[in-house]
Amino acid sequence: MTLQITLQIIYLIASVTFILGLKFLGNPSTARKGNLIAAFGMGIAIFGTIFLYTDANGHHLKNLPLIFGGLAVGTVIGWLAAKKVQMTAMPEMVSLFNGMGGACAMLISIIEFQHIQSTFAEPMAIAALLIPGASAALKGRLLIILLGMIIGSISFSGSMIAYGKLSGKVKDKSFGFQQFINIGLLAVILAFTWMAMMGESNQEFWFYLVLALSLLYGILFVMPIGGADMPVVISLLNSFTGVAAAFGGFLYDNKVMLVGGILVGSAGTLLTIVMCKAMNRSLLNVLIGNFGGGGKAAAASSSAGFEGAIKEVNASDTAILMKYAKKVIIVPGYGLAVAQAQHVVHELETLLESEGVEVKYAIHPVAGRMPGHMNVLLAESNVSYDKLVEMEEINPEFATTDVVLVVGANDVVNPAAKTDPSSPIYGMPILDVEAAAHVIVNKRSMKAGYAGIENELFYKPKTSMLFGDAKKALNQLVSEIKALG
Ligand code: TAP
Repeated sequence: MTLQITLQIIYLIASVTFILGLKFLGNPSTARKGNLIAAFGMGIAIFGTIFLYTDANGHHLKNLPLIFGGLAVGTVIGWLAAKKVQMTAMPEMVSLFNGMGGACAMLISIIEFQHIQSTFAEPMAIAALLIPGASAALKGRLLIILLGMIIGSISFSGSMIAYGKLSGKVKDKSFGFQQFINIGLLAVILAFTWMAMMGESNQEFWFYLVLALSLLYGILFVMPIGGADMPVVISLLNSFTGVAAAFGGFLYDNKVMLVGGILVGSAGTLLTIVMCKAMNRSLLNVLIGNFGGGGKAAAASSSAGFEGAIKEVNASDTAILMKYAKKVIIVPGYGLAVAQAQHVVHELETLLESEGVEVKYAIHPVAGRMPGHMNVLLAESNVSYDKLVEMEEINPEFATTDVVLVVGANDVVNPAAKTDPSSPIYGMPILDVEAAAHVIVNKRSMKAGYAGIENELFYKPKTSMLFGDAKKALNQLVSEIKALG
């Protein structure tokens, strides 16, 4: 009994650490601590369950070598993957790990279904079902098993496709009436779930049919979505995994699994909403819009009818402009992450500050390819957190800024979001860089960004293009500023 009370207290502590962890993850300065606190909570919940859990007959968990073997293999793979992963490949890894969570929920449901089947095949158990309420309780349990299995398998197969798309192994594929087929398939899954609930004799057949169709649905659901929309989809699938895990918590009457699942489910849902809002798109538009066309961004070679012309600038002229400026704002974007230019951008910032220039970074909520991408990247090179200024706060400051240096960003500074109602990004809040005295844009070419559209900013009289890979261009800029003495 005391063992069980101790275990419940451990679960309570673990649940509190998850909530604290999430809270701390909300700010770059405390995110690392938040991650460690939640990981500690997860650790005590796992080991508490392994060593203290007893079933109704007082039996402890068996198969300890198998459990520790699995833990060891998972830990080594997870550790190595997290150590090796590039910042730009982070969404892929999140997708893969999320898929594993979905697979766990799916397997739990399969095991529990087999458990129910074998238990209730016994004559004693059949007799017990005649007790009023017992049959309804069994049906309730079966429903939870089925829902956990459906959501877990959709999350698993969907995440695998998302991973494939992000890593370029799977191409976007949609065919006519795809959305109708998906809705039809979902209806069929629900109908067969009902059969699995009600069909007394061939329950097993319906159960495995639902499993197969759910896996298929996960594939068909993610397949047509524009490759570039994957971060939003991954966040959505993440919330599915949370819900599936919460069903597992119901099944085992395990409070920490329930709390953890609900937290993941709600955090994933909120993140999905926040991302859609920051891009000014509805979730429906993300799911059926095929936005960004899987990286098939148009190679913008013409000026698309914009007034003005492209003005090129070299590193030495940019160096002079920046060294003698009073205030510089750096706008980091996806290209900064691709070039791994976070360290040299920090070097540039400290160099300018040593020359008496005030330097800040303007952080757009969806700059890069995942939430907080720029914050994490710049934190890696020890940029002070108070220099990272959110969009709403920094926008009024551009008017008093001498030079804005846009590094590998495109959509988040595209004025079409404000001026062109026919643009796919119309309505998305952007950084008002045009209000500054000079705008220098560093990118490699005139190619479009994620949204696959032209950017009029590049043709404006105040704008000069500093072409080249971000790391190379910024290194050159640093050397030129140093050379100025
Ligand atoms: P993008 O609009 O994607 O533009 C990035 C630019 O970086 C490209 O135009 C590219 O031009 C340039 N680039 C690539 N590699 C480079 C390198 N090595 N050196 C220098 N430049 C390089 O990026 P953004 O402005 O950060 O906007 C993010 C986009 O992603 C938004 O449209 C947003 O809606 C979307 N999105 C973000 C999220 C989250 S949560 N962050 C989620 C879903 C979607 P070149 O090829 O010419 O160099």
